Amino acid sequence: MGENPLPADGGRRLVGTRRLLVAGALGVLGTATVLAASVPAGAAAGTLGAAAAQSGRYYGAAIAAGHMNDSTYVATWDREFNAVTPENEMKWDATEPSRGSFRFTSADQIVSHAQSKGMKIRGHTLVWHNQLPSWVSGLSASDLRSAMVNHINNVMGHYKGKIYAWDVVNEAFADGGAVGTLRSSVFTQKLGNGFIEEAFRAARAADPNAKLCYNDYNIDNATAAKTQGVYNMVKDFKARGVPIDCVGLQSHLSSGSVPSNYQQNIAQFAALGVDVQITELDIGGSGSAQADAYRRVTQACTAVPRCTGITVWGVTDKYSWRSGDTPLLFDGNYNKKQAYTAVLGALNAATPNTSPSPTTSPNTSPSPNTSPSPRTSPSPTPPVGGACSATIETTNSWPGGFQSTVTVRAGSSAVNGWTVKWTWPSGQTISSLWSGTQSGSGSSVTVSNAPYNGSIAAGSSTTFGFTANGSAATPSATCTSP
Ligand code: G3I
Repeated sequence: MGENPLPADGGRRLVGTRRLLVAGALGVLGTATVLAASVPAGAAAGTLGAAAAQSGRYYGAAIAAGHMNDSTYVATWDREFNAVTPENEMKWDATEPSRGSFRFTSADQIVSHAQSKGMKIRGHTLVWHNQLPSWVSGLSASDLRSAMVNHINNVMGHYKGKIYAWDVVNEAFADGGAVGTLRSSVFTQKLGNGFIEEAFRAARAADPNAKLCYNDYNIDNATAAKTQGVYNMVKDFKARGVPIDCVGLQSHLSSGSVPSNYQQNIAQFAALGVDVQITELDIGGSGSAQADAYRRVTQACTAVPRCTGITVWGVTDKYSWRSGDTPLLFDGNYNKKQAYTAVLGALNAATPNTSPSPTTSPNTSPSPNTSPSPRTSPSPTPPVGGACSATIETTNSWPGGFQSTVTVRAGSSAVNGWTVKWTWPSGQTISSLWSGTQSGSGSSVTVSNAPYNGSIAAGSSTTFGFTANGSAATPSATCTSP
């Protein structure tokens, strides 16, 4: 606790202690959202979600659809948490077990329950070397690229507008080795290290309002090579305009292993201009040692304005992926552990969050990183009148292919429906297109809006994207609006 103290405000700590006493008397008032709204100023909240909400944060749990027939499991989730991450149900093997055939039943079960309770939902995860269906490993490079973009488009498209933050790429960095070494996977082997950037660009186009996170374990210690590799990647992405909004520290820890620089690590990532979320927290141990470790992690987050929320990787020790380590806040019988009380106290003692990226109203504000990459082309000049303009930029390229983003911008009047046309200079062909509808084929390309992005407010813009075969080209495009 010594390394990440709360703001030195003895009076506030006393209030925090009193809050804990009040907490037991508050009782259950329904959903976390309702409870958060019901906590009078200065009073302690009695649940994790409501306590976190007081400083503008969320407190979530990983939930498995397979346990939702356990009524105590669901009741504890509903009472204590105001956010959720599906533990396995949104992974590639679950959502696209065979190519092009998507299955969302289990994930939908969690999502609709969470929505009915007003919870934030974290999407986990789009591109990960693990829990990949076997068909993915047999693809050629260009096929894998289209399959990855198609997977992102379909999964994000299915949940568009419902997800607060997506773990776009999960665990891409290697353990050990030089700073910046990626784990060898089907993605690095066939697409090269640029697959991370490609995934983020596709993700932004697929759901511009979801926060896009890079998520990993063993990046909790600021001085570790793996942490520094991720740090450098985020810094580079921000510098080049590659869309990224958050870093997820999984934080699978044990009581003795919370790094002394954990808070500094969070602050360093935040200083790059991204949110930080603790995404899969569990801390092996028991009693006061476990409670102290949980307290330190909680205080480290609440001390950094852009640390916007914490998710524990499960509700009860009995269903934990590492249940032998008893790493969660509720024991196997759903009793609150010492660690629970420590977390609740730390959340109640947090000062209100002044983060420039508030997390209290999900999915309503656009992410900050919507500007196109400065690398290849300037922003389009807004046209006069109600017309639209379109600019193509190359966002990635490789031998024999490339990826582009097309920005469609409305002039001084709103646009309702748009069509963009261009002619390829040397026979390029589109292999995969998203957030638009292509008609015809050959060297003259026509793309109209998708059903959801035809309306553009005056002066605003939307994007669509594609991958193509051939050498990268940025022909000029025309845009018309009916
Ligand atoms: O559902 C099947 C069941 O039908 C079958 O009988 C049983 C036999 O082994 O397997 C069950 O599936 C298991 C699944 O969890 C559901 O319990 C899988 O084998 C098992 O591999 C899977 O483990 C998950 C693991 O990711 C896979 O890598 C854990 O639940 C899940 O907690 C864990 O979560 C990961 C995060 O996604 C990423 N970060 C690390 C974290 C912990 O490993």
